[in-house]
Amino acid sequence: MPAMTAVEAGARAGAGVPAEAVGPLVRGVGVLRRLAEAGGTLSPSALERATGLARSTVDRITATLARMGYVRLDGRDVVLTPGVLELGNAYLAALRLPALLGARADALADELDESVSLAVADRDGIRFIHQATRRRALSVSFRIGDLLPAERTAPGALFATEWTERDWARWRTRRAEDPRDTAFPAVPPRPEPAPAHDTARTTDTAAAVEAAFADRVGAARRDGWAVDDQLIEPGLVAVSAPVRDPRTGRVACVASVVSHTSRHPAAELPAALLPRLRTAVAAMEADLRTAPPPEPGPAPAGLATWTTASKQELGRDFVESLARGLTVLTAFGEGRPALSLTDVARATGLPRATARRALLTHEYLGLVAAAPHEDRAFALTPRVLDLGFPPLSRTTLPRLAEPHLRALADRVAEPAALAVLTADGTEIQYTAGAGTGGVLTVRIPVGARLPAAATSLGRVLLADTGAPAAPELAEARARGYALVDEELESGLRSVAVPVRDRTGRAVAAVNVATHAARRSLEDCVEHLLPALRATADDIQRDLHRASRFTKVPTT
Ligand code: PHB
Repeated sequence: MPAMTAVEAGARAGAGVPAEAVGPLVRGVGVLRRLAEAGGTLSPSALERATGLARSTVDRITATLARMGYVRLDGRDVVLTPGVLELGNAYLAALRLPALLGARADALADELDESVSLAVADRDGIRFIHQATRRRALSVSFRIGDLLPAERTAPGALFATEWTERDWARWRTRRAEDPRDTAFPAVPPRPEPAPAHDTARTTDTAAAVEAAFADRVGAARRDGWAVDDQLIEPGLVAVSAPVRDPRTGRVACVASVVSHTSRHPAAELPAALLPRLRTAVAAMEADLRTAPPPEPGPAPAGLATWTTASKQELGRDFVESLARGLTVLTAFGEGRPALSLTDVARATGLPRATARRALLTHEYLGLVAAAPHEDRAFALTPRVLDLGFPPLSRTTLPRLAEPHLRALADRVAEPAALAVLTADGTEIQYTAGAGTGGVLTVRIPVGARLPAAATSLGRVLLADTGAPAAPELAEARARGYALVDEELESGLRSVAVPVRDRTGRAVAAVNVATHAARRSLEDCVEHLLPALRATADDIQRDLHRASRFTKVPTT
């Protein structure tokens, strides 16, 4: 596809949007990026300012993204939702490194009791694809998808050992245009550069930064590892080693152990942490050599049909070319890292010309690139993680559940709650809830505990464990829900269903509570239960998306 090269050349020369690019897709991706940079929430007027788009355009884009499940409109705010994780998940699944190496990184973090990360190169930056984080007072930790300037990290020095002259030129241009690293919201900005009239000093500083980085790159080439001695912020130190692709010998990703000067001064890192890091990296490289071929997951189906139906329903408010363009990204995934135009058209059900323009647009936006080692194929780039992944990758089950509980409580006009079983399995603990604002309503504060066996929430959770059989548990297991009728408290009726993780284990339960005077038992089963089940499905879908590549705490 020769047009691609022209687009690339145009983008490099600083040319504007290529004529064939899909304008609404460019603008929609811009909205997702601004939302992600802002931490996941912006008002429509803030979006207007951040994107330079007209209010009516912002509204149509957000309506389309809401329909896709990528944002929700919360009062006056536009909020990224876990649905958007499917874009980053597509990249991480196609890359395969997190699935193949993540467990080794986690084991190393446990062994050393320090955070361990995996990062890939992203142009002249590094981007995290896995984090095994220790929770400590004295530690910053980055999120999956965060982008850092190469010269301020240990992995960056290792990646730069493979840079061409063109890569160095691109790095110099970026440094000159953005000396304070404002394009990297994940890191604290560098101190103000010297005043503009002091040209000699400014040049000096730029030259000093380059010389220092070139030194570290030279050392990385010589040693095969690199250290970060508080390049990002005081106290933060790291030691890194490259994980090489067995096929090409090139650096596939970099594994880092991150510490703090209060535990390990930088000078101690090579002796204290490097040997075990290298052992883990050798095992990772062996895993890559012996990994079975990936199993292609199901290609998305019927996307074109879905977008057409949405267009018919929402009319002008649904920007079909944006929806179709974004679904092109989800055609990639595990076992589908490199796709031709024909593959993309087939997977999405889009006409070839539509798929081609979407790919062209994504290439211009830096979200897809020519696949390495494949003729005429495209691959996702790490930049796909810019589309909302970092702010959503640090979530918890209660936070995921809250908007769904609120929607349920509003819909059935009864309070809804989420709870987990305590460690010893005797009690349940409420972790999230939504009330109705009514006077006569059940109000149970988050954190409160109740005996598990006496509650509907506890019974569906116990039914899933190896708890000794009781008639109520057997019933809950068989029916998939539990109903407690005035057993805990006179007048109180409550129905609960489980929320299952990706392995099928019930990790939490959701319930709706009501009064016997307000709803009959039949009413509970006929009306509350279906709504409750739909809510559990929504929470579960978000949980499964969010936990595919990150750990989602249940409390
Ligand atoms: C990190 O994983 O947080 C990390 C790794 C290497 C660095 C800095 C931070 O140089």
